[in-house]
Amino acid sequence: MRLVLLGPPGSGKGTLGNMFAQSKNIPHLSTGDMLRKEMAGKTLLGEKIAPIVNAGKLIPDGLMIDVLKHRLAQKDCAGGFVLDGFPRTTAQGVALDTMLSQLRMELDAVLLFNVSKKEIVRRLSGRRVCIQCGKIYTVDYAKGVCEKCGGRLGVREDDKPEVVEKRLEVYERQTEPLIGYYREKDVILEINGEQPPEKVLKDVLAILK
Ligand code: AP5
Ligand code: MG
Repeated sequence: MRLVLLGPPGSGKGTLGNMFAQSKNIPHLSTGDMLRKEMAGKTLLGEKIAPIVNAGKLIPDGLMIDVLKHRLAQKDCAGGFVLDGFPRTTAQGVALDTMLSQLRMELDAVLLFNVSKKEIVRRLSGRRVCIQCGKIYTVDYAKGVCEKCGGRLGVREDDKPEVVEKRLEVYERQTEPLIGYYREKDVILEINGEQPPEKVLKDVLAILK
Protein backbone atom coordinates (compact mmCIF):
# COMPACT_ATOMS: atom_id res chain seq x y z
CA MET A 1 0.00 0.00 0.00
CA ARG A 2 1.41 3.40 -1.05
CA LEU A 3 -0.37 6.31 0.55
CA VAL A 4 -0.05 10.08 0.76
CA LEU A 5 -1.62 11.83 3.76
CA LEU A 6 -2.86 15.33 2.99
CA GLY A 7 -4.44 17.81 5.36
CA PRO A 8 -3.79 20.92 7.41
CA PRO A 9 -1.43 21.06 10.39
CA GLY A 10 -3.00 19.23 13.33
CA SER A 11 -5.42 17.22 11.20
CA GLY A 12 -3.96 13.98 12.60
CA LYS A 13 -1.64 12.89 9.77
CA GLY A 14 1.13 11.88 12.15
CA THR A 15 -1.19 10.07 14.55
CA LEU A 16 -3.04 8.12 11.85
CA GLY A 17 0.13 7.62 9.78
CA ASN A 18 1.84 5.94 12.67
CA MET A 19 -1.15 3.70 13.53
CA PHE A 20 -1.75 2.72 9.90
CA ALA A 21 1.91 2.01 9.16
CA GLN A 22 2.15 -0.20 12.26
CA SER A 23 -0.98 -2.12 11.29
CA LYS A 24 0.42 -2.81 7.80
CA ASN A 25 4.07 -3.16 8.84
CA ILE A 26 5.25 -0.52 6.38
CA PRO A 27 7.36 2.61 7.03
CA HIS A 28 5.75 5.89 8.11
CA LEU A 29 7.69 8.59 6.27
CA SER A 30 7.08 11.92 7.99
CA THR A 31 9.15 14.72 6.47
CA GLY A 32 8.45 16.87 9.56
CA ASP A 33 9.95 14.14 11.79
CA MET A 34 12.96 13.81 9.48
CA LEU A 35 13.61 17.55 9.63
CA ARG A 36 13.12 17.76 13.42
CA LYS A 37 15.65 14.92 13.84
CA GLU A 38 18.22 16.91 11.87
CA MET A 39 17.42 19.97 13.99
CA ALA A 40 17.70 18.06 17.29
CA GLY A 41 21.04 16.59 16.15
CA LYS A 42 22.25 20.09 15.20
CA THR A 43 23.53 18.74 11.87
CA LEU A 44 24.54 21.10 9.07
CA LEU A 45 21.13 20.60 7.44
CA GLY A 46 19.39 20.97 10.81
CA GLU A 47 21.05 24.31 11.54
CA LYS A 48 20.15 25.56 8.06
CA ILE A 49 16.47 24.65 8.21
CA ALA A 50 15.68 25.42 11.89
CA PRO A 51 14.83 29.12 11.37
CA ILE A 52 12.52 28.24 8.47
CA VAL A 53 10.67 25.39 10.24
CA ASN A 54 10.37 27.36 13.50
CA ALA A 55 8.81 30.27 11.59
CA GLY A 56 6.18 27.95 10.06
CA LYS A 57 7.41 28.36 6.50
CA LEU A 58 8.25 25.65 3.98
CA ILE A 59 11.80 24.63 3.27
CA PRO A 60 12.79 24.87 -0.44
CA ASP A 61 11.32 22.28 -2.80
CA GLY A 62 14.71 21.21 -4.22
CA LEU A 63 16.09 20.32 -0.78
CA MET A 64 12.96 18.44 0.27
CA ILE A 65 12.74 16.52 -3.01
CA ASP A 66 16.37 15.34 -2.60
CA VAL A 67 15.66 14.10 0.94
CA LEU A 68 12.60 12.17 -0.24
CA LYS A 69 14.29 10.71 -3.32
CA HIS A 70 16.98 9.25 -1.10
CA ARG A 71 14.47 7.87 1.42
CA LEU A 72 12.05 6.31 -1.10
CA ALA A 73 14.89 4.42 -2.78
CA GLN A 74 15.68 2.56 0.46
CA LYS A 75 14.81 -1.12 0.65
CA ASP A 76 12.14 -0.87 3.36
CA CYS A 77 9.92 1.21 1.02
CA ALA A 78 9.69 -1.55 -1.59
CA GLY A 79 6.62 -3.09 0.07
CA GLY A 80 4.75 0.20 0.50
CA PHE A 81 4.84 3.34 2.65
CA VAL A 82 2.78 6.09 4.23
CA LEU A 83 3.95 9.55 3.15
CA ASP A 84 3.10 12.21 5.75
CA GLY A 85 3.94 15.85 5.01
CA PHE A 86 5.18 15.30 1.46
CA PRO A 87 4.21 16.47 -1.11
CA ARG A 88 3.32 19.92 0.18
CA THR A 89 3.50 21.96 -3.02
CA THR A 90 2.45 21.16 -6.57
CA ALA A 91 6.14 21.09 -7.59
CA GLN A 92 6.71 18.38 -4.95
CA GLY A 93 3.67 16.48 -6.26
CA VAL A 94 5.06 16.50 -9.79
CA ALA A 95 8.49 15.42 -8.47
CA LEU A 96 6.89 12.55 -6.53
CA ASP A 97 5.19 11.29 -9.70
CA THR A 98 8.56 11.27 -11.47
CA MET A 99 10.29 9.49 -8.56
CA LEU A 100 7.60 6.83 -8.40
CA SER A 101 7.57 6.17 -12.12
CA GLN A 102 11.38 5.78 -12.03
CA LEU A 103 10.92 3.23 -9.25
CA ARG A 104 8.05 1.60 -11.23
CA MET A 105 5.60 2.38 -8.45
CA GLU A 106 2.16 3.99 -8.29
CA LEU A 107 0.21 5.66 -5.51
CA ASP A 108 -2.80 3.72 -4.24
CA ALA A 109 -4.53 6.74 -2.72
CA VAL A 110 -4.22 10.23 -1.28
CA LEU A 111 -6.13 10.52 2.00
CA LEU A 112 -7.45 14.03 2.64
CA PHE A 113 -8.18 14.75 6.32
CA ASN A 114 -10.99 17.20 6.99
CA VAL A 115 -10.85 18.94 10.38
CA SER A 116 -12.24 22.36 11.35
CA LYS A 117 -9.90 25.27 12.12
CA LYS A 118 -11.27 25.53 15.67
CA GLU A 119 -10.36 21.90 16.38
CA ILE A 120 -6.91 22.33 14.78
CA VAL A 121 -6.07 25.26 17.04
CA ARG A 122 -7.35 23.32 20.08
CA ARG A 123 -5.26 20.25 19.21
CA LEU A 124 -2.02 22.04 18.43
CA SER A 125 -2.10 24.07 21.65
CA GLY A 126 -2.24 20.76 23.57
CA ARG A 127 0.21 18.67 21.57
CA ARG A 128 3.28 17.18 23.22
CA VAL A 129 5.95 15.21 21.39
CA CYS A 130 8.74 12.92 22.56
CA ILE A 131 11.96 14.78 21.84
CA GLN A 132 13.73 11.43 21.38
CA CYS A 133 11.44 9.32 19.14
CA GLY A 134 8.78 11.81 17.98
CA LYS A 135 5.76 9.93 19.41
CA ILE A 136 2.75 12.26 19.56
CA TYR A 137 0.67 12.91 22.70
CA THR A 138 -2.20 15.11 23.81
CA VAL A 139 -1.44 17.09 26.97
CA ASP A 140 -4.34 15.51 28.92
CA TYR A 141 -2.94 12.02 28.41
CA ALA A 142 0.78 12.78 28.51
CA LYS A 143 2.59 11.60 31.65
CA GLY A 144 5.77 13.67 31.21
CA VAL A 145 7.87 10.88 29.71
CA CYS A 146 7.35 8.87 26.54
CA GLU A 147 5.65 5.50 27.12
CA LYS A 148 7.50 4.07 24.12
CA CYS A 149 11.13 5.08 24.75
CA GLY A 150 11.21 6.94 28.08
CA GLY A 151 12.26 10.18 26.36
CA ARG A 152 11.24 13.62 27.65
CA LEU A 153 8.07 15.19 26.23
CA GLY A 154 8.24 18.72 24.88
CA VAL A 155 6.29 21.34 22.95
CA ARG A 156 7.12 21.84 19.28
CA GLU A 157 8.63 25.26 18.63
CA ASP A 158 6.20 25.73 15.72
CA ASP A 159 3.11 25.02 17.89
CA LYS A 160 3.23 28.56 19.35
CA PRO A 161 -0.09 30.25 18.45
CA GLU A 162 1.44 32.85 16.10
CA VAL A 163 3.40 30.16 14.22
CA VAL A 164 0.29 27.93 13.97
CA GLU A 165 -1.49 30.85 12.25
CA LYS A 166 1.41 31.13 9.80
CA ARG A 167 1.38 27.37 9.09
CA LEU A 168 -2.35 27.46 8.37
CA GLU A 169 -1.84 30.36 5.98
CA VAL A 170 1.04 28.53 4.25
CA TYR A 171 -1.14 25.41 3.97
CA GLU A 172 -3.93 27.36 2.26
CA ARG A 173 -1.62 29.15 -0.13
CA GLN A 174 0.98 26.49 -0.99
CA THR A 175 -0.48 23.08 -0.17
CA GLU A 176 -4.20 23.33 -0.95
CA PRO A 177 -3.55 23.57 -4.72
CA LEU A 178 -2.36 19.96 -4.48
CA ILE A 179 -5.95 18.91 -3.73
CA GLY A 180 -6.92 19.98 -7.26
CA TYR A 181 -3.84 18.28 -8.68
CA TYR A 182 -4.80 14.94 -7.11
CA ARG A 183 -8.54 15.35 -7.81
CA GLU A 184 -7.69 15.44 -11.51
CA LYS A 185 -5.90 12.13 -11.08
CA ASP A 186 -8.94 10.79 -9.21
CA VAL A 187 -6.92 9.42 -6.28
CA ILE A 188 -8.34 11.46 -3.38
CA LEU A 189 -10.30 9.75 -0.60
CA GLU A 190 -11.82 12.14 1.95
CA ILE A 191 -11.65 11.25 5.64
CA ASN A 192 -13.54 12.82 8.53
CA GLY A 193 -10.55 13.56 10.80
CA GLU A 194 -12.70 15.02 13.57
CA GLN A 195 -13.41 11.71 15.29
CA PRO A 196 -11.42 9.68 17.83
CA PRO A 197 -8.16 8.31 16.33
CA GLU A 198 -9.38 4.68 16.51
CA LYS A 199 -12.50 5.60 14.50
CA VAL A 200 -10.38 7.50 11.96
CA LEU A 201 -8.22 4.38 11.51
CA LYS A 202 -11.32 2.20 11.14
CA ASP A 203 -12.71 4.51 8.42
CA VAL A 204 -9.36 4.54 6.60
CA LEU A 205 -9.08 0.74 6.62
CA ALA A 206 -12.69 0.45 5.38
CA ILE A 207 -12.34 2.99 2.55
CA LEU A 208 -9.14 1.35 1.30
CA LYS A 209 -10.76 -2.09 0.98
P1 AP5 B 1 4.97 18.67 9.81
O1 AP5 B 1 5.62 18.06 10.96
O2 AP5 B 1 4.57 17.83 8.65
O3 AP5 B 1 3.72 19.53 10.34
P2 AP5 B 1 2.22 19.79 9.81
O4 AP5 B 1 1.90 19.34 8.45
O5 AP5 B 1 2.06 21.23 10.09
O6 AP5 B 1 1.35 18.86 10.60
P3 AP5 B 1 1.43 18.52 12.12
O7 AP5 B 1 2.55 17.56 12.35
O8 AP5 B 1 1.43 19.80 12.92
O9 AP5 B 1 0.00 17.85 12.37
P4 AP5 B 1 -0.51 16.37 12.07
O10 AP5 B 1 -1.51 16.45 10.97
O11 AP5 B 1 0.63 15.41 11.89
O12 AP5 B 1 -1.29 16.08 13.42
P5 AP5 B 1 -0.87 15.15 14.69
O13 AP5 B 1 -1.14 13.72 14.36
O14 AP5 B 1 0.46 15.50 15.22
O15 AP5 B 1 5.92 19.82 9.23
C1 AP5 B 1 6.56 20.73 10.08
C2 AP5 B 1 7.38 21.71 9.29
O16 AP5 B 1 8.44 21.02 8.58
C3 AP5 B 1 6.64 22.50 8.20
O17 AP5 B 1 5.97 23.62 8.72
C4 AP5 B 1 7.80 22.87 7.27
O18 AP5 B 1 8.55 23.92 7.80
C5 AP5 B 1 8.66 21.61 7.29
N1 AP5 B 1 8.28 20.64 6.25
C6 AP5 B 1 7.82 19.38 6.45
N2 AP5 B 1 7.57 18.76 5.30
C7 AP5 B 1 7.89 19.66 4.32
C8 AP5 B 1 7.83 19.62 2.90
N3 AP5 B 1 7.37 18.53 2.25
N4 AP5 B 1 8.22 20.72 2.23
C9 AP5 B 1 8.66 21.82 2.86
N5 AP5 B 1 8.74 21.94 4.20
C10 AP5 B 1 8.35 20.84 4.93
O19 AP5 B 1 -2.00 15.61 15.74
C11 AP5 B 1 -1.97 16.89 16.34
C12 AP5 B 1 -2.50 16.83 17.78
O20 AP5 B 1 -3.85 16.38 17.75
C13 AP5 B 1 -1.75 15.84 18.69
O21 AP5 B 1 -1.71 16.33 20.00
C14 AP5 B 1 -2.59 14.56 18.64
O22 AP5 B 1 -2.47 13.80 19.80
C15 AP5 B 1 -4.00 15.14 18.44
N6 AP5 B 1 -4.87 14.30 17.61
C16 AP5 B 1 -4.52 13.64 16.46
N7 AP5 B 1 -5.57 12.97 15.95
C17 AP5 B 1 -6.63 13.23 16.79
C18 AP5 B 1 -7.99 12.84 16.79
N8 AP5 B 1 -8.48 12.04 15.83
N9 AP5 B 1 -8.80 13.30 17.78
C19 AP5 B 1 -8.30 14.12 18.77
N10 AP5 B 1 -6.99 14.52 18.83
C20 AP5 B 1 -6.16 14.08 17.84
MG1 MG C 1 2.73 15.60 11.82
